Formats: sequence, C-alpha cells, structure tokens
Amino acid sequence: MMISHIFPETARVRDNGHLFLGGCDAVDLVDRFGTPLYVFDEATLRSQCAQFVGEFTLRHADTQVVYACKAFINRPLAQILHEEGLGLDVVSGGELAIARAAAFPVEKVYFHGNNKTPEELRFALDAGIGRFVVDNFLELERLEALAGEAGKKQDILLRLSPGVDPHTHQHTTTGIIDSKFGFTIATGQAETAVARAMSASHLNLVGLHVHLGSPIFETEPYQLAMRMTFQFAAQMREKLGLRMAEFSPGGGFAIQYTGDSPAPPVGAYAEAIVSALHEGSRAAGMPAPRLIVEPGRSIVGRAGVALYTVGATKEIPGVRKYVSVDGGMADNIRPAIYGSRYEAVLANRTGGVGELVTIAGKFCESGDVLVRDVQLPELRTGDILAIPAAGAYCLSMASNYNASLKPPIVLVKDGNARLIRRRETYEDLMRCDVIDGR
Ligand code: LLP
Repeated sequence: MMISHIFPETARVRDNGHLFLGGCDAVDLVDRFGTPLYVFDEATLRSQCAQFVGEFTLRHADTQVVYACKAFINRPLAQILHEEGLGLDVVSGGELAIARAAAFPVEKVYFHGNNKTPEELRFALDAGIGRFVVDNFLELERLEALAGEAGKKQDILLRLSPGVDPHTHQHTTTGIIDSKFGFTIATGQAETAVARAMSASHLNLVGLHVHLGSPIFETEPYQLAMRMTFQFAAQMREKLGLRMAEFSPGGGFAIQYTGDSPAPPVGAYAEAIVSALHEGSRAAGMPAPRLIVEPGRSIVGRAGVALYTVGATKEIPGVRKYVSVDGGMADNIRPAIYGSRYEAVLANRTGGVGELVTIAGKFCESGDVLVRDVQLPELRTGDILAIPAAGAYCLSMASNYNASLKPPIVLVKDGNARLIRRRETYEDLMRCDVIDGR
C-alpha cells in the first residue's frame, strides 16, 4: 500500500525511508513522544472543514456545518473548528463542558441524544445552547418545564426516524424503524411530537432532523430520507401550520479506510443533499430551509494516524503470524466491535516484498486484533507501524482497559509538532480512587 488519500494530505515517504506527516519525521515524533502516539495533521483537518463549508455553501448559502464531537473532541480541536467556522454537535454534558471551556460560542452548539438527563438539559439551557435536537416525548415534557422555570423560549429541532436503511453496520444504523432514536414518521409519533412541540409555550420548533447511520457510502439514502421528511413537513404545514425553517440530514459521511473501499467525495454528498433540499422544498411549495450538516468522522478521520512500536511476534506454521504492537483495542476498539478494516504501513524504513501478517494489540483478549491479514515488509521488533484514518472514533472510544494509559495526540504542521493531549500517567489511573473516605 502506497501513501495515498487514506493518509493525511501532507503524508510523504522521504529518502531516508521514513514516513513524514505535516513535515515531521514519524520516527522523530516517536523518539520525542513515545508510542502509541496519535498524530493529527492540521492541514488535513482544516482542509476537510473548508471542503465541507465550501461544497455545501457553494450550493446552498444558508448552510451551517456542525462537527459531531463524538468522533473526538478536546479544547485545542474545538478552537480549530471554531476558527474554521464550524458549529458543534454535542451528545452529553461532558462534550458541552469541553465546548464551553474552549470558549466555543454556545449558540452554535446543537444538543443531541436519546436520553439527555435532567441535569444535562438544565446545564445546556443555562449555558444558552443554540438548539436542542429533541428525541422523545419525555425530553419534550422535561424541556418545556425547565425552559418555563428558566423563563426562556428555547429553539428546538425534532429528531425524526424516517425508516430508511443506509446499509451500515447494524450497530451504527439509526434511521430504520427498529431504532431507539427519534420520533417515527410511520407510526404517527412524529406528528404527535410536532403538535406537542408547537403547542408548548416555552419551546420554539424551528425544524426537523434525521440521521441515518454511519458511515454511509451511498448518497441515495440521504435523498430518500429527505424526500420523506419534506413530504412529512408539507403535511404538517397543512395540518398544524408548521414552518420548517431548518432541516438537518445528520452526518454519517464516509471516509476511505482501505485501498478497496473508496468513499464519495464531499462534493458528491453536498450535491445529493442540496439537490434533494431544493427539490423537496419546491415540491412542498415551501422556501428552502437553512441546512445543517453534521460531519464527524469525515472531518477528523483522515487527519489522524496512529503510530505503534512492534514488539513480540508469534508464528504458527501454516496458520498465521501474529505481530504484536504496544496499543490495540484500548485505543482503537473499532476492529473488535464492528469488524472495521484498516491499512498498516511500516513508518521507519522501506522494506522488501514482505509477508502476510496479523497485527495484534497488547490487551488480554484474543479479539484484540487491529489488522487481520495485511501484507507488510518483514517486521522487526522496534519497527514503527502506522495505521492511517485513525482520527475518528478511536480516541473518543478509548478506554483504560488493563489499566492502560490513553495515548497522547500531537498536532503536526509545517515541520512543527505541538502536543495537544499528553499521555496519561499511572497517577491519572488512580485519580478517582477514594481511600478511607478521603
Ligand atoms: N449526527 C448524529 C445525530 C449522529 O448520531 C452522528 C454519529 C453524527 C452526526 C456523526 O456521524 P459521522 O459523520 O461521524 O459518521 N462509533 C461508530 C460511529 C458512531 C456514530 C454515531 N453517530 C464508529 O466508530 O464507526
């Protein structure tokens, strides 16, 4: 596998045979920061933001790109996203706390989630959050009461479940009928929700939201879901006088993880979504609403590369050769829970023809395999292995399994490396212990 658009834009192999990211030698980065190490390329990060903003606003000027924090968030990243003009989609008090600590403008924050707690609702209301994306009747009731207590009229969107299959892994499919998320259109729930939201005196229903799943490699599911949502919106306008000023088709835009799984370019999603928006509103005889898109993976995924050091190997003749690295399922659980595939590349030298190996992690489970059956130059202990497309849903889903230390993140740009998250320490692991009541 050669360096390609699976790696960050700035990735190069230089004459010394080393992988360079953002002008930094991966081997130097490893010397300085150790492994496992997550490297984020600032140029790729910013250019993904710019592509989303550019491709969508070019076709529909009134678009707000909102980054889905669940893919990964911390304060330095939030600042970059703000500089690029994005808003944030948060799904917990924790993500909102990070956004606030980064001085992110709260009016550009959208609060999602199927079971927001009363504490989270209150926290977000008090913070002056831009929009709640209300998921269910309990939330509608609680929010109406809390907004009343606070003397506010809160802007909300309703999350609908349109019943469209985006053909993703079943764990990450959300828009189908059998889903815990949203008000189902087909059962009449969505209509009841619109009626209740419109009659709530402390809520202001500004629009509708759908999210189908992730990652979605096709554009048709978006168009299908939008057709259904616009038809529903037209019916609700007739029946209840709903004015859909805002609409969101969610996120879920795919990225390329392996050589054989190309993803549509951002422009293809933008074209499909904006044309469905314009057709949908024309057919419904309503002005085109403001569009809100919520990319997560497609903003940070490609920017991130995970670097590991090769340790022990085990050859089982006629069966398989395991090569173990110093990270694994605690920093990237995606292969274990979704069967996700990644590429792997030797980062410290160019090698020969090589062999077929399986890259295992260091954690105490047989399922801790990062890449099964990958062709690599013969690996030696101490080699540096790079796994690309590791910026999204790796560190945000990382755990301290086996009391491991979550890895650091270094942001690279023009040959400079800036640590934006330090490696955890043993002390961090024990910070929340309570001994003898103290
Ligand atoms: N909007 C909503 C309402 C969502 O639920 C999600 C993702 C997104 C936006 C962003 O989706 P993205 O653009 O990042 O695909 N842990 C899984 C992915 C779970 C996605 C959950 N919701 C994974 O590692 O593949």
